[in-house]
Amino acid sequence: MKLEVAFSPVGLHPDDVRGRTVFVIDILRATTAMCAALHHGAKALIPVASTEEALRLAQTIGSDDLLLAGEKNCVRIPGFALGNSPLEMTEGAVRGKTIVVTTTNGTKALLAAQGARAVYLACAGNLSLAGERARELLEQDGDILILCAGREGAFGLEDAYCAGRLAQAALGGRRARRALNDAAVASLDLVRRYGDRWERPLARSGAGRELIRLGFKADVLDAARLDAYPVLPHFHERRVTLASQLVS
Ligand code: MLT
Repeated sequence: MKLEVAFSPVGLHPDDVRGRTVFVIDILRATTAMCAALHHGAKALIPVASTEEALRLAQTIGSDDLLLAGEKNCVRIPGFALGNSPLEMTEGAVRGKTIVVTTTNGTKALLAAQGARAVYLACAGNLSLAGERARELLEQDGDILILCAGREGAFGLEDAYCAGRLAQAALGGRRARRALNDAAVASLDLVRRYGDRWERPLARSGAGRELIRLGFKADVLDAARLDAYPVLPHFHERRVTLASQLVS
């Protein structure tokens, strides 16, 4: 059995994900915002690497049901309909829409996971569903990778804590020290340190402090709400959709 955590996608090679199941976490805020959007009826999200690519793709698709979303330095990209806040992903804003999205770290982590056998999105908002799927897959295939978006290519406390919670759920009480890499051990140690108080590691992280400084404290609190967005998104053929919508 192998349960690994990567604290950032930097340095990840396509061979590190090929044939594996990957859970991507960017709790502040990309995976939380994507879960919120799908929970509120968005049809799909298309993560892309840059503002330019988002604009190009929107022009190519050219549909009325398309929205552009994303941030730079945590703030909505000028001209885009939505930023990267889960609180903006209301039913009125997103129902029936396809959303092309670009963010600083979150979309990069998703794109780095392309080529994996399956890619799921996780955050506090869907932890129970993601944890259940991770436990099933660990039992079935004996191998999962939890990929944190991190912050500017480095460790992010908020994602690492969330990775620990997901690893804990995947293990389901089993002792499997030898299956874990050091990052997984450290993530589980963070869970022992913070217990179930999601707001603590989120508000103490660099990303959380920056969001609070910029006036997005409500987003940090929202991202800490356990199972607030009970959906299991899956990234497949460039689109993030509900896993249950996958054509088998
Ligand atoms: C990211 O992708 O870096 C984050 O989701 C940034 C943010 O909080 O908007």
